[in-house]
Amino acid sequence: MPVRPAVFDPPFNVVRVSHVELGVRDLGRSRAFYVDCLGLLVSDETADAIYLRGVEERNHHSIVLRRGRASEAQTLGFKLGSEDDLDRAAAWFARRNLPTAFPDVPYQGRTLRTADVFGMPLDLYAQMEQPASMLQKYAAYRGARIQRIDHLNCFTPDVQASYDFYAALGFRLTEYSETDGDDPKLWAVWLQRKGNVHDLAFTNGTGPRLHHVGMWTPGVLDIIHICDVMATCGYLANMERGPGRHGISNAFFLYIRDPDGHRVELFTSDYLTVDPDHAPIRWSLTDPQRQTLWGQPAPRSWFEEGSLFPGVAPRAPVLAAQPIVAR
Ligand SMILES: [Fe+2]
Repeated sequence: MPVRPAVFDPPFNVVRVSHVELGVRDLGRSRAFYVDCLGLLVSDETADAIYLRGVEERNHHSIVLRRGRASEAQTLGFKLGSEDDLDRAAAWFARRNLPTAFPDVPYQGRTLRTADVFGMPLDLYAQMEQPASMLQKYAAYRGARIQRIDHLNCFTPDVQASYDFYAALGFRLTEYSETDGDDPKLWAVWLQRKGNVHDLAFTNGTGPRLHHVGMWTPGVLDIIHICDVMATCGYLANMERGPGRHGISNAFFLYIRDPDGHRVELFTSDYLTVDPDHAPIRWSLTDPQRQTLWGQPAPRSWFEEGSLFPGVAPRAPVLAAQPIVAR
């Protein structure tokens, strides 16, 4: 049985997805994309890094751009409920012989640097510096008017195994895709801690790799507007898929690629999932409205391209099913 009952008493409390750190080759080029075009706020910048946040965010950063030679996703950040949760997390990962380092991380309190069952790098922490809220500083709203990080989506070579790992940590299934037939297999899962459709999603594919970071916009028109902006300021080729409305999650979306190829989704208008008896929605892998409610399939690049994690060799997927792909 691939779908499991939700775990309401997890070993430690993950509040939500918090941030992602991306390796980029040219900070100036990346700044032009993320700040000048998309409108993210700069919390701080050094010779080696730019710390970005959306207008709503009280956390110091939700995207960190780190200068480096490789276009890799350095780490995926999750906020925990307390310092005690952090200690419980360290003990939980140690019991499974997974890494438990506590490096000094700028602007964050104690940070557990670990990895999941496939080596996906995770930073878990409970406290981050809190700059002034910009939510009602409307003059600061630029570009796509991004409010906050919403989710991370990753390729995994075994969706069932990744789902099992995070379900045990209290991540609750909201929607899933599976193959048809007498012995259905999970193709993709959407998992939440914060009460909307997802904090973390997994898609079948060569992995582990980061597929995209999802950033929340106030409304659909902000996504339409950034399409017009990108199409007329040199970023036409960076627009990969959309705009459109997902079948899964009901969200309105646009997928774009940053100058290093990291994929960003601008995302809005999914729904509430906090009820304890909230039942997950099943989608057939062959349903043409799964990817896009209006029927347009995703391009091949969307299924094949993603960001590597440092030192983690991706594996071929165990499931060899075929999604609907645009020609
Ligand atoms: Fe997404």
